[in-house]
Amino acid sequence: MKSLEDLKKIREATLKNLQLRNQDESEQVRIVVGMGTCGISAGARPVLNAIVEELNKRNISGVSVVQTGCVGMCRLEPMFDLYKNGEKVTYVNMTPEKSREVVAEHVVNNHVVSGYTIGKTE
Ligand code: FES
Repeated sequence: MKSLEDLKKIREATLKNLQLRNQDESEQVRIVVGMGTCGISAGARPVLNAIVEELNKRNISGVSVVQTGCVGMCRLEPMFDLYKNGEKVTYVNMTPEKSREVVAEHVVNNHVVSGYTIGKTE
């Protein structure tokens, strides 16, 4: 049987751990590229490759680049969501060149490239 003091220590350690995990998640950068059929036929693969290349070229770590399926907006493909500082920004009608620019501006310099976002298109 653990003493009350032991239980308090366990509780504090768990809370600290939880806080750290939440902090990590909100600070993490995640790029989710739409790779459904229409995304691929619109050129999502070169976009994904350009993002990964640009991150590697700039030696940026801590960014996860993942694929997702159909996003349901064919005419805006290729597109990706960028999660940073707890915010999601959706980039649409992307090309490899525009994607490299987004890595430089948004991921590195913290400036959303608003001209490429879904807000500008819709
Ligand atoms: S097939 Fe085009 S958005 Fe799903």
